[in-house]
Amino acid sequence: MWLSRVAARSFSVAAAAMQSARVYVTRKVPPDGLEVLRKSGRVQFELWDTDDPVPRAELLKKVRGVDGLLCVLTEKVDAELLDAAGPGLKVVSTMSVGYDHLSLEELKKRSLECVYCHFHLCRGIRVGYTPDVLTDAVAELTVALLLCTSRRLVEATHEAKTGGWGTWRTLWLCGYELANSTVGILGLGRIGVAIAERLKPFKVKKFIYTDVAPRPELANMINAEYVSMDELAQQSDFLTICCALTPETQGICNKNLFSKMKETSIFINTSRGGVVNQDDLYEALATGQIAGAGLDVTTPEPLPTSHPLFTLKNCVILPHIASASYTTRNAMSVLAANNLLAGLRGEPMEKELKL
Ligand code: GLV
Repeated sequence: MWLSRVAARSFSVAAAAMQSARVYVTRKVPPDGLEVLRKSGRVQFELWDTDDPVPRAELLKKVRGVDGLLCVLTEKVDAELLDAAGPGLKVVSTMSVGYDHLSLEELKKRSLECVYCHFHLCRGIRVGYTPDVLTDAVAELTVALLLCTSRRLVEATHEAKTGGWGTWRTLWLCGYELANSTVGILGLGRIGVAIAERLKPFKVKKFIYTDVAPRPELANMINAEYVSMDELAQQSDFLTICCALTPETQGICNKNLFSKMKETSIFINTSRGGVVNQDDLYEALATGQIAGAGLDVTTPEPLPTSHPLFTLKNCVILPHIASASYTTRNAMSVLAANNLLAGLRGEPMEKELKL
């Protein structure tokens, strides 16, 4: 009798724990996502309720013993953080499509360990991320940045505002147009396709792309031709970088690539700063090896205002805002919250990264 009462009590304690998993949210996420967490009634969450990143020491303290972590792309989820969280961590849900801030090796290692463990709390860590919902916003911003760079809009507004606008001049502030151009895509995925779909009405002549292998299903949607990396560099009038940052793509846009590009070409990066060797890019822009660059992402972020790239008129730099529309950021927060909840319930996530 006594034993069965103890058993019943531990069962109800376990059930209550599952009802209210402990979650740490590393940033003030948009309201729709927070609402999902609140309404679920299943999580007790603590939130770093500001726009600035939680200091690392504080983060390491806060994650101790949590069941779930909802983070953004500025938080490094590595061995140190996973160790600090402890074996109860079941889900990492990032409000981003990129996941280069997550150490997949460490996450995988912990999942493997759990194959040999029969305890519920040691089943490994599942990871959610937020692709698709941001594709439109990122593609739209990429097109805006491309036009802004190729038609020199930042320089032009500066001239208009500061008295440089003397008279109408024949070749003043001339740029490069999309009509009859070749647009190259490095890393063809959903975002690359969405960019091409938006650029097509500008009368682009040809889309080309390169990737680790041809991607005919996606390429057929935009009638894009698979080419080698060298051909991509040589033929593109506009080269847009859409690949994920991985050890293979780290610094892939370097002297070698820029030296093969046309002097009239425009380089656009809305993926991750790490794919570009910025010293080589500076050199290419400063010496006229390429005509211009539009960057939404840099290394580091924020890029120090003293960085040489900021001195160049032919380089437009944005503060990593590709997905920054109210609709998209809210959709990302909802997806991240739903991924988190599904993971905590042991159910399939809407968007789960297979480790
Ligand atoms: C933004 O860069 C993202 O990865 O969502």
